[in-house]
Amino acid sequence: MDLIRANEYVESFAKLIEGQQVNGYKGNLKVGVDLGTANIVLSVLDEMDQPVAGALYPASVVKDGLVVDYVGAVRIVRNLKQQVESLLGVRLTHAATAVPPGTIGGNAKAIANVVESSDMEVINVVDEPTAAAAVLGVTDGAVVDVGGGTTGISILKNGEVIYTADEPTGGTHMSLVVAGNYKVSFEEAEKLKKDPNRQKEIFVVIKPVVEKMASIVKRHIASFDVNKIYVVGGACCFEEFENVFFKEIGVPTVKPERPLLVTPLGIALNCKK
Ligand SMILES: Nc1ncnc2c1ncn2[C@@H]1O[C@H](COP(=O)(O)OP(=O)(O)OP(=O)(O)O)[C@@H](O)[C@H]1O
Ligand SMILES: [Mg+2]
Repeated sequence: MDLIRANEYVESFAKLIEGQQVNGYKGNLKVGVDLGTANIVLSVLDEMDQPVAGALYPASVVKDGLVVDYVGAVRIVRNLKQQVESLLGVRLTHAATAVPPGTIGGNAKAIANVVESSDMEVINVVDEPTAAAAVLGVTDGAVVDVGGGTTGISILKNGEVIYTADEPTGGTHMSLVVAGNYKVSFEEAEKLKKDPNRQKEIFVVIKPVVEKMASIVKRHIASFDVNKIYVVGGACCFEEFENVFFKEIGVPTVKPERPLLVTPLGIALNCKK
């Protein structure tokens, strides 16, 4: 895996979102909708998988892969779609979406229904860490997606996904600990947690949560020959995050820059039948 190239790839997508810009493109568009616990992200790539546009909205309409506010979720996806469509001057007609590993039946269907209700045909539903693996070009190792509410684990061997799991922990858990420690509301804790100037101080408080996450991951990968762990998802933004994983699990752990945007990009990469 070429982490430098993956970083440049994700960075070019981040710039489009932040600057509300679009890139020129040829051919058909590939669209991804990530209905996360903390963020909803729409990603658009061209036929050659180059980023064309993107949009993000912080939302709490989906909890751990379950749609808790269907109408709200549809409204947000429609808004993101319209935002990108007006920048691009074209309609987005189809998309891929994703669910945490092991989401089955009606719950997976509800995620797809949100996208369909936003007037896009769903052509693929992938699992989140597997989508992330596609961006990083991982063929062997474990990809761990630590999002807001869920931590997804995918183990790959020779390019095949051989194991997936999902655990109900993530950034929300960290914010709850921060809220308790500083005696502030969840919303304030969320802000405090993301303040770059308080990172070091906050990490001391949430380190036990990261250690617990690492011990959970360790258990999942124990019976597999995993030589490298790739962490993605917004909750692993902390500078020391991967070092705690390495210390707890004993397996070298790498983190791309902009970990929050890796899975959303991977979903769009999977916008194919
Ligand atoms: N700079 C940061 N430092 C620490 N935590 C961050 C930072 N940026 C985002 N987060 C946390 O990352 C989480 C959101 O990450 P992400 O967007 O990957 O989750 P999600 O996809 O919405 O959730 P899930 O995959 O669990 O459904 C939130 O808990 C948020 O507080
Ligand atoms: Mg996610």
